[in-house]
Amino acid sequence: MKASELQAVQLERLQWTLEHAYRNVPLYTRKFDEAGVKPSDCRSLADLAKFPCTTKHDLRENYPFGMFAVPQDQVRRIHASSGTTGKPTVVGYTERDLDTWATVMARSIEAAGGRPGHKVHVAYGYGLFTGGLGAHYGAEKLGCTVIPASGGMTARQVQLITDFRPEIIMVTPTYLLTLLDEFERQGVDPRSTSLKIGIFGAEPWTEQMRAEIEERMNIDAVDIYGLSEVMGPGVAQECVETKDGLHIWEDHFYPEVIDPVDETVLGEGERGELLFTSLTKEALPIIRYRTRDLTRLLPGTARPEFRRMEKVTGRTDDMIILRGVNLFPTQIEEIVLRAEALAPHFQLVLTRPERMDHLTVHVEAREGATAEQRAAAAAELVREVKDSVGVTVDVSVVDPDTLERSMGKMRRVLDRRERA
Ligand code: DLL
Repeated sequence: MKASELQAVQLERLQWTLEHAYRNVPLYTRKFDEAGVKPSDCRSLADLAKFPCTTKHDLRENYPFGMFAVPQDQVRRIHASSGTTGKPTVVGYTERDLDTWATVMARSIEAAGGRPGHKVHVAYGYGLFTGGLGAHYGAEKLGCTVIPASGGMTARQVQLITDFRPEIIMVTPTYLLTLLDEFERQGVDPRSTSLKIGIFGAEPWTEQMRAEIEERMNIDAVDIYGLSEVMGPGVAQECVETKDGLHIWEDHFYPEVIDPVDETVLGEGERGELLFTSLTKEALPIIRYRTRDLTRLLPGTARPEFRRMEKVTGRTDDMIILRGVNLFPTQIEEIVLRAEALAPHFQLVLTRPERMDHLTVHVEAREGATAEQRAAAAAELVREVKDSVGVTVDVSVVDPDTLERSMGKMRRVLDRRERA
């Protein structure tokens, strides 16, 4: 498809979506009316900027089904994301939505290097979380053989991978690290498995983590992005041949990047908060959804018709403000993974002794690192964080295998500050 053809398809689908949302979802009727816009005001893709944004708060306020745009008997499936506080965010899919989702997921797995006949070990959690079932139906649609392992029971996962010999694993990057340790514990060389491709997402991970995983497992590690409010996994996918950010399946999801403070739309290449508008969803059309994820849009490469988003560095919610300096867990990950004496397992703990915020990086030593190497790595970490982020942190290097392991999405930051 040429760019001009894609844009024509996008505009037509966008106009349908705005009309569908305005007519069938009271929240959109009210919001559009308050902003003084009607679906017919959208005559070009740029006109979308006139429409109000939607937030997680809007979904929570309309819990559970208030944002659904079709009668309940047309909703074939429900998913929900737990979030950290309060009510979950509930989403729904019609039969056609489920088919669209499987199609974009199949496209994602193919872009990652998957082919019909490959065996796919799905270790994303099954259930209300979109990871497991999203990956599952996409892999089936592509013609793969699915092994629906779900999350947890780590020792058994290693056995299944050894015995069933899948080519592909789909899992969060932090749970993959847990699996890697279990391979080693069982005396299985992770480089010797049948796995060739890992499709990792649901949480931020860095280029350093890619290098670590690819080296330790002898696989291609690629990034998959998505969120339940927009669909689930399969909104954007990194291509294995370029590994240069994620192509957005723009024929179904229209991206914008805005300044998170004043909501102005930013140009290509400018960093800000990612928004999505669904273009084909029936059950839960979503208009200008504020993802809270920080990235920038870039031109397409391996799939020239689709724009890319840069690997997500963090969420506005995960940003730590330490004595006036902004810091993301991924910045710590980059530095930790460069240190030879440190393992990729770390957690950030915020405390507030004497009314000053303190951040302690708890990080595991690599197996066999000496006391001197650990002390030197700790001092180096303090120095590098100070140099690259501009803030002083405490570092505590702990013994291997002592920090909590991820079973899915990892909680990187523990906030132990007492609230006034
Ligand atoms: O995490 C969907 C998913 C499942 C994506 C499996 C990829 C693989 P939610 O639970 O709604 O949905 O969480 C969505 O997770 O807004 C991001 O903050 C984060 N996220 C998802 N993928 C990535 C990624 C699923 N590749 C939220 N890189 C999003 C960084 C990601 N963050």
